[in-house]
Order: sequence, then structure tokens, then C-alpha cells
Amino acid sequence: MPRNIDNPRKWIQARTMLGKGFKGLKSIDNSRTLKNFSLDILKRSSKVWVAELQANLDKFFDTVESEISTNGTSSFFSHLQTFLFYFLCKSLLGADPALDPAVANSGPLTINLWLGLQLLPTVPVLAFQPLVEIFLHSYTYPSALVSGGYQKLYRFIEQHGKEVVQRGEQEFGLSASDSINNLIFTLGFNAFGGFSLFLPTLIGTIASDKTGLQARLSDEVKQICGSSSSGLSFDSLKGMELVNSVVYETLRMNPPVQLQYARARKDFQLASHDSAFDIKKGELLCGYQPMAMRDSNVFDEPESFKPDRFVGKGKELLNYLFWSNGPQTGSPTESNKQCAAKDFVTMSASLIVTRMFQRIDRTCRRALNSGKEKKERNTFSTNFLPIHGGWFRQTGGYLVSAH
Ligand code: HEM
Repeated sequence: MPRNIDNPRKWIQARTMLGKGFKGLKSIDNSRTLKNFSLDILKRSSKVWVAELQANLDKFFDTVESEISTNGTSSFFSHLQTFLFYFLCKSLLGADPALDPAVANSGPLTINLWLGLQLLPTVPVLAFQPLVEIFLHSYTYPSALVSGGYQKLYRFIEQHGKEVVQRGEQEFGLSASDSINNLIFTLGFNAFGGFSLFLPTLIGTIASDKTGLQARLSDEVKQICGSSSSGLSFDSLKGMELVNSVVYETLRMNPPVQLQYARARKDFQLASHDSAFDIKKGELLCGYQPMAMRDSNVFDEPESFKPDRFVGKGKELLNYLFWSNGPQTGSPTESNKQCAAKDFVTMSASLIVTRMFQRIDRTCRRALNSGKEKKERNTFSTNFLPIHGGWFRQTGGYLVSAH
């Protein structure tokens, strides 16, 4: 999206302070400061990001595998959200949810309710019109519905995330309250919300493939990263061309945040391949990502999922991958509106895919060595690959099912 467009993040953030009864909005006008605060939190968290990701990811896989071994099924979405909540709190905020019983178990649910209440008025619901417009889309829901949970999150960050809160105050001139509210926004809306939408699609896309992609991914992981998690880093992922390409192609086909709205800061011309549109200052623009990223002038067979699309020379197409509200070759700065965590998101996703295949190989080897193929078949790992005739199935409710 062009740089001379003002982002309505201020507005959505104002709405987001639901739990605080819309207090603490003074500094929200300063969206550059807030973007820099987010970039700073990420820079600080980069020291622990990979370690926290791996540790919590392994717990997630252990839980799902053991649940499938015992019950034959696992509702992996709730475990995925627990993993995300712990990993993101610990890396972004330096705060361990396990230390606070008020959020340890209920954190993900609290964020889901808080997100749902804000998004419901904007989500298209096709049934029962005009009742949906009248009853769901016409007003802001009362903050009292979520303020209890929000206050618990607020106190958790106040108490356990002191270092990042102080950075907001000392480095960016925010009040403690503005720091905490914005940390909740970044944690809940950007990070937890974004990953909760993206990861099930990524896992589901790989799991449902029938073209041999899983075996090719497994080979690449084995060849470049081996089977140990100890050497995994963002650097080690750079050579994983297929893994990275699958992550990009999933984001191209299914951008987790499809719509972007913005108001023009000045008059300018917006050009497409064959036309140019005069935009006047103050006009509201809407970008629809699925359309931009299925442009047949740019992408060969744009409606097909091509796992190798971004391999080799295909990397040039990263100029047209816009899931982060800017090209994948761009950089988020205070003067654009690109996702602050653009590279963290794609590299974390590649790391998750890599670790998943490392575990699949490990579990399969263990099963083969101990001759327990039948018993071990009922695991997340062996279900995922069609190696022992087991498979992984995703239903609408994100159920992992053993057969
Ligand atoms: C899969 C996960 C994620 C997705 C899909 C995603 C997507 C996006 C998108 C589409 C935008 C532009 C929104 C708009 O202007 O309408 C955005 C902005 C932003 N994202 Fe992300 N994001 C993700 C994860 C994260 C994480 C982990 C952070 C952590 C810091 C983050 C921080 C931000 C910030 C601060 C902005 C605002 C940028 C600005 O207004 O200039 N995002 N994100």
C-alpha cells in the first residue's frame, strides 16, 4: 500500500482499548512512536525468540501426540493457542504466564473473546439479513463483556513484563498505561490473532497435500537441518528453499488478514497494469489482498497452489507477496504500514514446519526400531506422513484424527 496513506490503526486501537473503557488514548495519535515501540519489542525479543518458539512448540507437539495416543484424537487448535500464548508472552513481553494463575489457563480464551467482540461488527455473515446488519454490525459491543479478562492481562503485564513496559516509558515517552495497552494490542491482535489464523492453514495445506510434497519437505529438512533441534536458527533456514516457498505460497493463497483500509494523506495517482486512478486526499481506500496476490499478470496459474513457486528465480515474485501490507522484499519502518514482524512471521513458520518434519522422522524411526508401528501410528507425527499407512486429517474444527 502506498506510503502516503494514513492507517486506521489508531481507530482500531481506540476500539481495542475495550477493557480499559477507552482510557489511555492520549498518545495513540502518535502512531509512528507506537510502530517504533513494536519494532523495538521485536528487536529485544529476537534474542530469545527461537529458543522460546522451539521449547513451547515441542511441548505443543508432545501434548497433541500423547492425546492422540490415548484418545485417538486431539483438538489441536486449543493446544496451538496455548503454545502461541506462552511463546508470545515469553518472547515479546519477557513475561511467563505460568507465574500468574489468573492468566495461566485462561489467557487464550480471554484474548479470543476480546478479539471476537471487536471483529464481530466487521465480519461478513451472510445469513439472516438484514438482522445481521441490524443486530451484529451496527454498534460497538459494551466493554464490560470482556473488561474482567482484560484487566487480568493488564495486571499480568504490569507485574511480570516490567522491563518492556519501562522501555515504552523511557525510550518512547509513553505512560505506563499506554505501554501496557499497546503491548496487549500487539500481543493479542497482531501476534496471537495473526498466528492463530495462519498456522492452522499452513499445517492443513501441507497435511492435505497428495502430490508428494510431505516427502519432499522431509528430504529437504533432513538434508539441511538434520534431526536435532539444537542447530536450528533463523540463519539455518535460509537454505530451505522448498520449506520457505511453501510458507510464502500459503500466505499468497490465504492471506490471514485480507482487507486493509486507509485514508489518503494527499492527492496521488494509483496505477495498475493498464490504468491509473486519481486519489484525492482524505478518500478511504480498501486493499483486498486475495485479489492483489492472484494477479494473472504476475503469477502463473494464480489460482493453483504451487509449492515451488518461490524457489530459485521464483524469489523475484517476493516483490508481489503482500500479506504483510507491503512487499515481502520491503522493510517495516515508522514511515510505512507494513507488519512490524514481517520476517519473524515467515521465519517462525518455516521453523515450525522444519521442527514438525524433524519430529515426524524421529517418531517414524523410533517406531521402526522398536517394531511398534501399529501402536505408534496413532500419533500426530506418524499420522502426518503416509509412511505407515497412517495419515493426518483436518476437519473444520481443526481436529487431528487417528485412523
Ligand atoms: C501470522 C502473523 C501475522 C500476520 C498475518 C500479520 C499481518 C499484519 C498485517 C496485514 C498488518 C497491516 C494491518 C493494516 O494496516 O491494516 C500488520 C501490521 C502490524 N503487525 Fe503484523 N501480522 C502478524 C504477526 C505480527 C506479530 C508477531 C507482531 C509483533 C510485533 C506484529 C506487529 C504488527 C504491527 C505493530 C503492525 C502495525 C504496523 C503499522 O501500523 O505500521 N504482527 N500485520
